[in-house]
Amino acid sequence: MLLLFTLVLFTFDFTISMPLLPEGNFVSADLTGISNIAKPGCQTKCGNLTVKYPFGIGEGCYLDDGFELTCNSTHYDPPKLFIGSGSIAIHNISDSEMRIFNTIAYACYDEAGVPDISDGWIQLKESYRTFSQKNKFTVIGCDDFVLMNGKLNEIDFVSGCLGLCSIESVVPNGNCSGIGCCQASIPKGLRYINSSFKTFGNHTSVMSLNPCSFAFLAEEGSFDFGGVNDLKDRKFNTRTNPIVPIVVDWVVGGEGSCSQATACKGNSSCNDVDTGGYRCSCKEGYEGNPYLDQGCQDINECEDKTNFPCYGFCTNTPGSYNCTCLHGYEGTDGKRADGCRHVAKDSKFSEVVISLVLVFGFLAILSGITGICFGIRKRKLNKLREKFFEKNGGEFLKQKLKAPGASDAVTMFSSEQLRKATDNYSEEQIIGRGGSGIVYKGILLDKRVVAIKKSKLVDGTQAEQFINEVLILTQIIHRNVVKLLGCCLEEEVPVLVYEFISNNTLFYHIHNRLGGMSWLSWENRLRVATEAATAFAYLHSQAAMPIIHRDVKSANILLDENYTTKVSDFGASRLVPLDHDQVTTLIQGTLGYLDPEYYHTSQLTDKSDVYSFGVVVAELLTGRKPICAGRTNEEKNLATYFVKSMNENRLFQIVEPRLLHEGTIEQLKAVAEIAKKCLNLLGENRPTMTQVAMELEGLRKFSTHPWVQRQETRDETKSLILEVEQSDLYGVPLIPNSTNEWESYSGSTGIVDQENIPR
Ligand SMILES: *[C@@H]1O[C@H](CO)[C@@H](O)[C@H](O)[C@H]1NC(C)=O
Ligand SMILES: *[C@@H]1O[C@H](CO)[C@@H](O)[C@H](O)[C@H]1NC(C)=O
Ligand SMILES: *[C@@H]1O[C@H](CO)[C@@H](O)[C@H](O)[C@H]1NC(C)=O
Ligand SMILES: *[C@@H]1O[C@H](CO)[C@@H](O)[C@H](O)[C@H]1NC(C)=O
Ligand SMILES: *[C@@H]1O[C@H](CO)[C@@H](O)[C@H](O)[C@H]1NC(C)=O
Ligand SMILES: *[C@@H]1O[C@H](CO)[C@@H](O)[C@H](O)[C@H]1NC(C)=O
Ligand SMILES: *[C@@H]1O[C@H](CO)[C@@H](O)[C@H](O)[C@H]1NC(C)=O
Ligand SMILES: *[C@@H]1O[C@H](CO)[C@@H](O)[C@H](O)[C@H]1NC(C)=O
Repeated sequence: MLLLFTLVLFTFDFTISMPLLPEGNFVSADLTGISNIAKPGCQTKCGNLTVKYPFGIGEGCYLDDGFELTCNSTHYDPPKLFIGSGSIAIHNISDSEMRIFNTIAYACYDEAGVPDISDGWIQLKESYRTFSQKNKFTVIGCDDFVLMNGKLNEIDFVSGCLGLCSIESVVPNGNCSGIGCCQASIPKGLRYINSSFKTFGNHTSVMSLNPCSFAFLAEEGSFDFGGVNDLKDRKFNTRTNPIVPIVVDWVVGGEGSCSQATACKGNSSCNDVDTGGYRCSCKEGYEGNPYLDQGCQDINECEDKTNFPCYGFCTNTPGSYNCTCLHGYEGTDGKRADGCRHVAKDSKFSEVVISLVLVFGFLAILSGITGICFGIRKRKLNKLREKFFEKNGGEFLKQKLKAPGASDAVTMFSSEQLRKATDNYSEEQIIGRGGSGIVYKGILLDKRVVAIKKSKLVDGTQAEQFINEVLILTQIIHRNVVKLLGCCLEEEVPVLVYEFISNNTLFYHIHNRLGGMSWLSWENRLRVATEAATAFAYLHSQAAMPIIHRDVKSANILLDENYTTKVSDFGASRLVPLDHDQVTTLIQGTLGYLDPEYYHTSQLTDKSDVYSFGVVVAELLTGRKPICAGRTNEEKNLATYFVKSMNENRLFQIVEPRLLHEGTIEQLKAVAEIAKKCLNLLGENRPTMTQVAMELEGLRKFSTHPWVQRQETRDETKSLILEVEQSDLYGVPLIPNSTNEWESYSGSTGIVDQENIPR
């Protein structure tokens, strides 16, 4: 551990010294610094003043005439710098302003009041310089007002200041308050001033206090009024002149602006000056002389820690710099003193170890607990499943499946499989709620779409019978019967898995006003009726054990994507042992379809299905619901109403008007006759399902319909399209609400006598 620590320290030292290594940069930076001041070969110093381009001393060293300077070293020591070849001496020059030596105007009076005046006017070079507003026009005197004459854009400008005082004791020191000393602001853009003295009494009354008055421009703050001393001093001007400068703003480009700027070179920006002209300045992170051809150079901030602090590892970037924390430090901003924090390796290591140990320990305990809980839960769940499996006849089914010659068509689904397929029996997956259970849509892992029916609670004593039914139902393979794929016995109630039929129920297609009813032509109604009858006939005639559906109704007749009929829901079905014709059961079925004989006797025969089928056919013919609360007693029950109407020879008044266009009278009559026979109150007088199926089949085959070929069309979709076109030929409006409301548009058909419409 100790070795590791010293190693860390060592690398530390190394990284710290890193930024200091490239020493060569210092030299080159210094060199560029020199070349940044003036043009090559030009004088850059006058005394200890530095002359920077665009100013210059000597031919070709300045930008233009306005920036020519002369350095007089012959008469002055240290040498003195002058503007042009003229008389204005310069204190110093910065990037935007220069300080020049003052000129002080004065008026001195003798005992007789005769003045000696020196008008100290100053004219700055047009388009290059203006007096800065940092200056104040200052007047020192006790009996004077001094006019400041100037020129502002060639217009005369006059301002002034009043210097009054009579008693020595009231003159303050330091502040220029108006007593013996007066200061006034000057306007922006002033280039020329000339003072003219006016006096009230020729100083005769204040001679002892103030023989001379003075007027001058002074940088604010550079002049402290000396009080009575200044007022009495005849040499005030020579004393003040070298120490009180005038500030002068300088610009390039004269009257022009940045839009025409040519003076600003690389990596610099141009700034307009409101009194005319502009100045150039280096962009942020750049330094140098923006007026020289090479432009501004990137500042290597990493070499100037005082102006550009970096407490980590510094990297220069164009216009800026990056400062990242050194190894062993962490943080995001090395430019701030507190931007990088020292990381104590040792304590961090132990911290990490401790936290890791804690985390892993916690995880271990957690997983142990959950594992135990899960195990217990799983064991419980498994026990429960086994119990359900037993109760639902699972063992019995297993035995049956083991028996020689048994079908292997029954798939045993696990409860997990089905929960996954139905999203844990989610409400959203429900596609139907029947009397015998709830039907969910499910998607198995192999992407098969199935209908999963959770039965209602079943009596444990019926388990064997239920299994028998499952076994037989799985063996039923008929084109018009929904296929049972398998079951799951691990749930509290048995769950059956069927193939999924996508196109809703016949009930929906007959009675739902919104559904597209165009396909439900007479032709298709006849086909659906025939297919359903065939399916029921097949169930009734099962060799092993006839199956009575017990809940035949249009809601249990499904249609697949090709509108092929699929009989479904054997939830209530009963297998009838071959040696019995009938079974006594609890009454089950749906009101409106229920066989009255079965209802009264509780004796279940296959004729009960026939009666219910008769209701379905009546439904297909009339488009009416089997029970309609909104009608008179006589009409409430479709079965009785249908039979009554038939007996009274009023069939064509109750048939759905559209069918009168589409079917022949003979066909309609024949089908109605079949329905009537099915609806016979005595079961033994009803035809068998097989007879019904054959009769319907016959009607389809020997239809006298002029346009439709009677040949079987295998492709249901094709025949459907044909049907639609047929309807169009008849000009029948394909109004979707061709259901119970048939009365409402019967008038338009011109066939039904309005007087006879039952109300
Ligand atoms: C300029 O030089 C003079 C003497 O040569 C010196 O007294 C003065 O302090 C210097 N000024 C600056 C600003 O360096
Ligand atoms: C320096 O100043 C003096 C007096 O003002 C003047 O006579 C002389 O010509 C000047 N020298 C130069 C080189 O300007
Ligand atoms: C320029 O001179 C004035 C007065 O002589 C002084 O106060 C100021 O600091 C100087 N500026 C520079 C940049 O040297
Ligand atoms: C100048 O006047 C201000 C108030 O205007 C005052 O605070 C200050 O002390 C005065 N200074 C002197 C030197 O009298
Ligand atoms: C300055 O003003 C005085 C009197 O007001 C005048 O005589 C003189 O000619 C003026 N000087 C200039 C340069 O205008
Ligand atoms: C000031 O002096 C002038 C001439 O010297 C004279 O004409 C004038 O009257 C004097 N003014 C006063 C107020 O004494
Ligand atoms: C601006 O500065 C960058 C970095 O110093 C340099 O590469 C570039 O050439 C400069 N641009 C111009 C126009 O001089
Ligand atoms: C500087 O830092 C920024 C973000 O911190 C990064 O995106 C960039 O690449 C760095 N540049 C250099 C030259 O390291």
